[in-house]
Amino acid sequence: MDNQDNSIQIQDLAKINRILQKKLERCENERRQLESDIATKEFLLKKVICELESSQTKLQQRSQELENTLDSLHKMQAQMIQGEKMSALGQMVAGIAHEINNPVSFIYGNLSHIQEYTDDLLRLVHLYHHYFPKPPVEIQTEREIIDVEFLEKDMIMVLKSMKIGTERIRDIVLSLRNFSRLDESEFKAVDIHEGIDNTLMILQHRLKYSDQSPEIQVIKVYGDLSPVECYAGELNQVFFNILANAFDALEEFNAQRTAQEIHENPSRITIRTCVVDSQWVKIAIADNGAGIPEAIQTQVFNPFFTTKPVGKGTGMGMAISYQIITEKHHGKLDFVSIPSKGTEFVVQIPLQQSGGRGESV
Ligand SMILES: Nc1ncnc2c1ncn2[C@@H]1O[C@H](COP(=O)(O)OP(=O)(O)OP(=O)(O)O)[C@@H](O)[C@H]1O
Ligand SMILES: [Mg+2]
Repeated sequence: MDNQDNSIQIQDLAKINRILQKKLERCENERRQLESDIATKEFLLKKVICELESSQTKLQQRSQELENTLDSLHKMQAQMIQGEKMSALGQMVAGIAHEINNPVSFIYGNLSHIQEYTDDLLRLVHLYHHYFPKPPVEIQTEREIIDVEFLEKDMIMVLKSMKIGTERIRDIVLSLRNFSRLDESEFKAVDIHEGIDNTLMILQHRLKYSDQSPEIQVIKVYGDLSPVECYAGELNQVFFNILANAFDALEEFNAQRTAQEIHENPSRITIRTCVVDSQWVKIAIADNGAGIPEAIQTQVFNPFFTTKPVGKGTGMGMAISYQIITEKHHGKLDFVSIPSKGTEFVVQIPLQQSGGRGESV
């Protein structure tokens, strides 16, 4: 009986064992299947992460590219605005110079004839006087009314001052033409001092005393410079921008000062030029205005940076000047400014451009 029970139990156990074995096998299969599924999913996940990472890098690159494009578009726009402004100024100046040139040439050309005719007439009057020292009363009276002696002396002076005046206008016209230098867009050796003087001529009206501003003195300390290879017209634009800023700064400063303060420390612009070594020339333009506050000094060369009221400044003068000096002439443009003492802009350019030509911007 016991034996029979045991064998039944053994059979049951074997059956349970088989069932368990099968379950175990099934579980094992499921586990393997799950593992393989997980591996596939992990692989897919890694692939997706990889793709995401690469597209993120691409996006970053793209946005960098867009930023660069935007930057260069800004730069280009800035250049175009300033270029337009300066070329409009240049064209206007050249136009005025051209229009004045003709009538002044008529006057100047005819002055020598007038001089000659006057000399002839005076000689004739002298001869009459010599041979007819006692003319009829009518002529005598007229002589006295006209005051021939005075007229003779004054006429010579008048002609002389007319000659000086027209010569001065001719000089101005020449300076205006030189300033615009529209015909000279190429690179060539020029006299820097002539460029500065011509630019000052354009800004002459801002030197004089007016209701808005007291007189501004210009001190020139010119060194011995040989001709400098440059784009003359564009270099003049740089001088124009720096000088115009100096005038603005001085006028603004004076508007806040009392007459006494202005009298004690009159407005001054000092222009110094010198040779730095045999390779470089330096042009320093200083004003004794209010200076540039330290907080904005890093922004002066930024395009569109201006502290001037709307309509007065575009904020492009210094940005474009920086570009003309550094990129086109391979030079340096810098400034030192001490608040309430003044500002000095320093332009340094090589006497000769090693490549022969400046880089086109
Ligand atoms: N000599 C100076 N003294 C004081 N501030 C100056 C001087 N030169 C430049 N600045 C400052 O730098 C700013 C930028 O000058 P920038 O010439 O580029 O522009 P702007 O004069 O404002 O306008 P514009 O484009 O018409 O010249 C000026 O607005 C001014 O605040
Ligand atoms: Mg300016």
